[in-house]
Amino acid sequence: MLGRSIALSTFLLALGAAAPASPPAALDVENVTHSLNVSSCPGYALESLRETNTGLTAALSLVGPACNAFGRDITNLTIEVTYETITRLHVKIYDTDEQQFSIPESVISRPQAPTSALRNSSDLEFHYDTLPFAFWITRRSEPDAFPLFDTRLASLPSTPIPPNNATDNSTAFDGFPLVFEDQYLQLTSALPLDANVYGLGEAVSSSGLRRDVSQNGTIQTFWARDIQDPLDENVYGSHPIYLEHRYNQTTQKSQSHGVFLLSSSGADVLLRTPPSSNVSLVQYRMLGGILDFYLFSGPSPKSVVEQYGALIGLPTWQPAWGFGFHLCRWGYLDINETRAQVDNMRAANIPLEVMWNDIDVFHSLRDFTSDPVSFPGDEMRVFIQNLTKNHQHYIPILDAAVAKQVNSTDLYYPYIEGAKQDVFMENPDGTEYVGQVWPGYTVFPDWFANNTQQWWTQGLKNWSDSGVEYSGIWLDMNEASSFCDGSCGSNANLSITPPQVLPGDPGDLITDYPEGYNSTLSGPSGNITVNGTSTYVRRAVEVAPPLNRRGVGAGKQSGVDLNTPPYAIHNGFGRLSIHTIAPNATHAGGYAELDVHNMWGLMEEKTTHKALSDILPGKRPFIISRSTFASSGKWTGHWLGDNFSKWEYMRLSIQGILQFQIFQIPFVGADTCGFIGNTDEELCNRWMQLSAFTPFYRNHNQRGAISQEPYRWDSVANASRTAISIRYSLLPYWYTLVVEQFLIGSDILVTPVLTPNASTVDGVFPGRGNVTWRDWYTHNVLNTTSGGNVTLSAPLGHINVHIRDGSVILTHSEPAYTIEETRQGPYSLLVSQTSDGHVFGTAYIDDGISSPPGPSKTLAFSVTAGQVKITAHGAFDVKQKLQVITVLGTKKPTVVKMGGESKDGWEYIEAQEKLVVKGINLDLNEDATIVWKSDV
Ligand code: NOJ
Repeated sequence: MLGRSIALSTFLLALGAAAPASPPAALDVENVTHSLNVSSCPGYALESLRETNTGLTAALSLVGPACNAFGRDITNLTIEVTYETITRLHVKIYDTDEQQFSIPESVISRPQAPTSALRNSSDLEFHYDTLPFAFWITRRSEPDAFPLFDTRLASLPSTPIPPNNATDNSTAFDGFPLVFEDQYLQLTSALPLDANVYGLGEAVSSSGLRRDVSQNGTIQTFWARDIQDPLDENVYGSHPIYLEHRYNQTTQKSQSHGVFLLSSSGADVLLRTPPSSNVSLVQYRMLGGILDFYLFSGPSPKSVVEQYGALIGLPTWQPAWGFGFHLCRWGYLDINETRAQVDNMRAANIPLEVMWNDIDVFHSLRDFTSDPVSFPGDEMRVFIQNLTKNHQHYIPILDAAVAKQVNSTDLYYPYIEGAKQDVFMENPDGTEYVGQVWPGYTVFPDWFANNTQQWWTQGLKNWSDSGVEYSGIWLDMNEASSFCDGSCGSNANLSITPPQVLPGDPGDLITDYPEGYNSTLSGPSGNITVNGTSTYVRRAVEVAPPLNRRGVGAGKQSGVDLNTPPYAIHNGFGRLSIHTIAPNATHAGGYAELDVHNMWGLMEEKTTHKALSDILPGKRPFIISRSTFASSGKWTGHWLGDNFSKWEYMRLSIQGILQFQIFQIPFVGADTCGFIGNTDEELCNRWMQLSAFTPFYRNHNQRGAISQEPYRWDSVANASRTAISIRYSLLPYWYTLVVEQFLIGSDILVTPVLTPNASTVDGVFPGRGNVTWRDWYTHNVLNTTSGGNVTLSAPLGHINVHIRDGSVILTHSEPAYTIEETRQGPYSLLVSQTSDGHVFGTAYIDDGISSPPGPSKTLAFSVTAGQVKITAHGAFDVKQKLQVITVLGTKKPTVVKMGGESKDGWEYIEAQEKLVVKGINLDLNEDATIVWKSDV
């Protein structure tokens, strides 16, 4: 049947047959056949143009019979073009009646409308054709260059879109006029052939950070989804922004710009190059909403990211302790086992900053509780208070779904109160929407409802008061995940109770290992050392109580079928309702889940951030969340979700972390040593070292897998101690980067080993020949003049770290067990000079905890040949002194002076052209100059 339908649709397209006037019936995803012809859509004409100082507005009218390809064409649209800042242009095309969904300001606030006339001074210029309407955007400075965005595609070959399902790898594009229907929007823009496009996620992108724009290219689907990190499919978060980088042969200039679509609609964004085409394309196919584009002129990648942040909001401040090492696993079954990890880490002298618990902490797997037997509240309080005394912290998980009370004797107040206060999502008929997650049947907070903030804050507060005195919160399952296909139905049928097999239970034992590990030869321990001292345990986990399930069946529906929009995006699960809340579930204000699904996580993050600000007043809320959307960084950090204990996933973690730098969620990290499957000693060793150089650093493990805490193997313990020590000494550098919204910084290059059984690693060193890279450990200059890759020695336990010349890095001299103890120690300054001696750098210091941030100190370091000048700005009192200055790449001095006085206690090491001045005891609240020269 499928084959016949395809053939028929292709045939119709070939004949250019007119599409039927009425909307098509909803299509079954198993048998979707795209039987209509988008290229027969008529497009729009631009009329009633009104130009203003800040841009223009005009009407767009459908210029022919509606094509009704995947819904009904909307006849009257409005376009508004606003030059919002010098670097930002806003193009908004919406239905004039404003019936389509657009993201409310209450969810994502927008900057105020511009008052000044930027139309003739903006970096960007908007141009249009009236009939058929098309637009393009250029850089004002390069009017003749390939436009940054260009919807005039009439001359391109238009090929039919093939059957629309998750295995569609075709190169086709169907029609290029603007299509604006109630349930389908399509817009296509030309890109330079083989363009350099980064972003559009969240994705575990097999082509790395740069997205594939070749013939088969990329289909990036936006539909938040709970799935164990698949390659090139939609996963937890939605970030419809890309950064494009171009090199102009003529001007020899490299420039970047950004394109952001402010839409939460389920969507496909395709990056492709049609056969025989001399351009590549980006095509947006959306399930509704409006076209709300922002262009950022850059021109550096960093400035694009900053301009994006200026629109959606800059990332939240992280407490300094957040940069410490975090330890977690699913399967710490009680408080004793949890406490043992803290003790074992201390005994092994591996710094542990934050101890976490997964859903094991809950009573009956329910939010806001701790199990009275395995995690009793009073003991939790003492445990956490002891952590606090040692400058350590505690974070528990919080799941998105809230357990539904089984009967009237089952008193679960978060549910009872929530139902009373009307904070849960509903079916279209107004009944409670019921899904199913770990605790059994669940309901879902409706973040649009009036009382939800207050109810959620109260739940979190009661939980803390009950003994779980957390310092931050881990938000999980917030796509939102639900194990029924859509609604589980409103009437419980408790007689159907298939058991839920959890990882580690009989039937789902964890037997997989990393590539290269032979468990038949080496046994189940993961040890690679012959006499390894692993204290490996495979925990016998209890079988979880069976979960109840009842048949599928949402409440009454009327009108349009929200659950199965006519155009089927390439959702990895198929139908939109699978493993999540049904798209026809409703929110307060009448919003359909279909329109706001991708923002569920964002709204939870925002609500939780506000709750934590109330519960822990004056402190920076610390949140790590799985599902994110544009602007989530304002409220939360992120981890990359359920990766695998594989070398491939360690490698992929790098693109994931860099992606989130574009998305303005800089505080991100992967499950170190791998989550799904067993890890092994070698992989865990390399991964503990790699993640020490990523913003969020947490080791997390799946239930039932072998233990992987860093103390389990001697070699991993050693490798971790080394890497954590570098991380903690670099804390002022990290801290300054985050404040300044850099990507990962420009001065430190990490070259990790990403394959098993290696003792060397190849690296590419930017600026070969012009830039001097020095080894972090020895300060030796690296020979990078040979061209091509540089092969570096990399025995197990050694991670290559190099510093660039022209850098000046403030460090903590004595990395200690915790961040607080590290911060109480003295500072050092590491200067790596360029050949002309000039270096400039800054460091930002504050108390590391206050929210809103209190006084701060910014130190400016200005180095010229033979002199370091330190200028201090800001009211924060820096108590710790600068004790050591190390200058690399300098000539041997005869004298060193500070404040005009000669200074003893310096040494010079010829081999690294290194001057080390010790015991300088410099007050960083004052300006100072240190001079070294033979002629001073
Ligand atoms: C899914 C999360 O991604 C994972 O990190 C967590 O361990 C499990 N849920 C259990 O809570």
